[in-house]
Amino acid sequence: MELLDKFGRKITYLRLAITDRCNLRCQYCMPAQGIDIVDRTELLSYKEMFRITRVLSELGVNKVRLTGGEPFVRKDFINFLESLSFNDKLEEINITTNGALISNHIDKLESYKINAINLSLDSLQKEKFEKITRRDVFDSVYDTFEKLEKSNLKLKLNVVVQSGVNTDEIIDFIELTKNKDIAVRFIEEMPFNGKGQRAISEVWNFKKILNHIKNQYADIDPILSKKSSTSVNYRIPNYQGTFGIIPAFTRTICSDCDRIRITSTGLFKNCLFDGGVFNVRDFIRNGASDDELKKLFIDTVHHKPENGFIAEAARGNAVSESMSTIGG
Ligand code: 5AD
Ligand code: SF4
Repeated sequence: MELLDKFGRKITYLRLAITDRCNLRCQYCMPAQGIDIVDRTELLSYKEMFRITRVLSELGVNKVRLTGGEPFVRKDFINFLESLSFNDKLEEINITTNGALISNHIDKLESYKINAINLSLDSLQKEKFEKITRRDVFDSVYDTFEKLEKSNLKLKLNVVVQSGVNTDEIIDFIELTKNKDIAVRFIEEMPFNGKGQRAISEVWNFKKILNHIKNQYADIDPILSKKSSTSVNYRIPNYQGTFGIIPAFTRTICSDCDRIRITSTGLFKNCLFDGGVFNVRDFIRNGASDDELKKLFIDTVHHKPENGFIAEAARGNAVSESMSTIGG
């Protein structure tokens, strides 16, 4: 039994949101005030998350990304990681984090065979970082960055390219890859942040980001990546690390998508841009068996929309939620 959609795409990758809460308030993700966080009883319990992951791993899912919100704000997240690491059907467990709370946990992450950490770092300048995140955490995030870089964990930096905010640092980020074995990934900003659509004056899409980089470097080597990679990757000759661009909003990677999402409240999503298909939590709390869950997953994945534009059109309303509820 496996998860196949009607376009022949095989689903092997789950993105699971641990919580919708976050200790930061990044401008592109959340409004400064007045976000509606969900009641704790609506969140999937760790036991439920463990079960969902186990059932999906029996259907061929071999890679899990834990996201949020910020996963480390949920109590006992570290213990949950340890239990997940006992599932030997999972070849990779990855985490997306803002890094503000984890500098003391890095040894444990190494021992739980966490594969890679995606650290969100949108600026290398303290003041600007504080403007973007609306919190005074640059020093702790940078400390995490340095510790992760020295650890055995693979490190990716997520940089959301924000027009008029951090585009002047694109080259600084690439220069970080000169002597560090890291992957810097520039992400197109998606114009929604939980209070609806946000106006963006000049669009920094994939093409513009790449042209900007090409203007600075005589040579850029494309790198062959896995077909399902979310980023298109390159290396500056002789640099240790790599950089990539993620066409999150222009959605040119959908034909190789191998992903599904489950939000912190259990909403199953076939696509980042769909409105959610059904709530796994409700089925579990109503006593669904493993076989019933499997059938549900198989039937749902079968109807995965062909791409993010079709998914968005089908939901009937514009995407406006925060990535903290969608599950980054
Ligand atoms: N556009 C692009 N990426 C976003 N993220 C959150 N909101 C947005 C948005 N509007 C992503 C960032 C961050 C992760 C937690 O979620 O990559 O690193
Ligand atoms: Fe928190 Fe990540 Fe959203 Fe920033 S982007 S507010 S770190 S969930």
